[in-house]
Amino acid sequence: MKKKMSEISWDDFQRLPFVEKAPYLLQDDGAPYHTLFAQQFDYAVLERLTVLTNCIRKISKSRAGADFLRSLIADKRAMIYFSQPSSRTFLSFLSACQILGIQTGEVRDTSTSSEFKGESHEDSVRTFSSYFDLIIMRSPEKSLAEKMSHALSVSNRPVPIINAGSGKDQHPTQALLDIYTLLRSFEKKGGLKNRTIVFCGDLLRGRTVRSLSYLLTNYTNITQIFVAPPQLQVGQDVLDILSDHDVTYELTDDLKSVLAQSDAVYMTRIQDEWDASEGESAGIDTSNFKFGAAELALLPADGIIMHPLPRRDEISIEVDNDPRAMFWRQMRNGMWIRSALIAMTFGFEREILTYQG
Ligand code: NCD
Repeated sequence: MKKKMSEISWDDFQRLPFVEKAPYLLQDDGAPYHTLFAQQFDYAVLERLTVLTNCIRKISKSRAGADFLRSLIADKRAMIYFSQPSSRTFLSFLSACQILGIQTGEVRDTSTSSEFKGESHEDSVRTFSSYFDLIIMRSPEKSLAEKMSHALSVSNRPVPIINAGSGKDQHPTQALLDIYTLLRSFEKKGGLKNRTIVFCGDLLRGRTVRSLSYLLTNYTNITQIFVAPPQLQVGQDVLDILSDHDVTYELTDDLKSVLAQSDAVYMTRIQDEWDASEGESAGIDTSNFKFGAAELALLPADGIIMHPLPRRDEISIEVDNDPRAMFWRQMRNGMWIRSALIAMTFGFEREILTYQG
């Protein structure tokens, strides 16, 4: 049941467990209004998003279809407000808005906004909501998108917020595109069930891993294996959620030993921007957490390799042209599923699904 964010204080809201926060983020039909964390997506909504994404892809192939999509939300404007670096997420949200005819404004560097003069995030976001109908935001702060959606709910111009990455914590739309990539990869091979997904790299500070690990709990019999140096192994909070959902998981530091049983290997880079001291990560031996020709040889013929990107040297370029490499496709999938999410946020799901080309 949908609940109103304006009827709960921020202090009370932030203390709620995710399952109790989720109803505050929904529209009447269960579609997301705000997209803030992975735990707000259940199987039914993931299914709706997947169907809608496929439909948008299909419609966009013809000129008439692309024109229809571009006319859909042409009366709305979106602010893309990124106070952390980004290439793909920024561009795919921008492209998603363009597909739907939404005009965009952007802040990619707060040194060019009034935050540089000391304006608070609250005041910035409130300013954006005066001009825009949607705020897509990335921030180094953990719960900023949540806090801003609450602040707007009690303002006179509430607008939806999409979290495009918050601190080390969450990256829900990356997880959506990752799920969509997994679903498409296994579509004709028995689907996303009874699978083993391996996460490798900096699992402690990688927000994409946290969000994807949560989303995978919506699918039947998915085993999750976390491969990392002990200092960068996945957090206990993630493991607690997996236990709550009766998900089988394993922790190891030996990538090669788990490859033969992997359906997907999700590589990540070392997130050294979060180092507590200069050179902290550089002191960790990460040489065994890389994917190259030797690892490729151990991966099953139907297994896939994923990466949220950007990569450094954790996947060698000789892997790029292998048919099992999905990381370039992930990017494009991101543009499509973000279009679907935005269309759903503005209530255009039915109109798209019933389009007669
Ligand atoms: C990721 C992020 O920002 O968390 N990038 C992305 O959005 N595709 C992963 C990363 O930076 O390592």
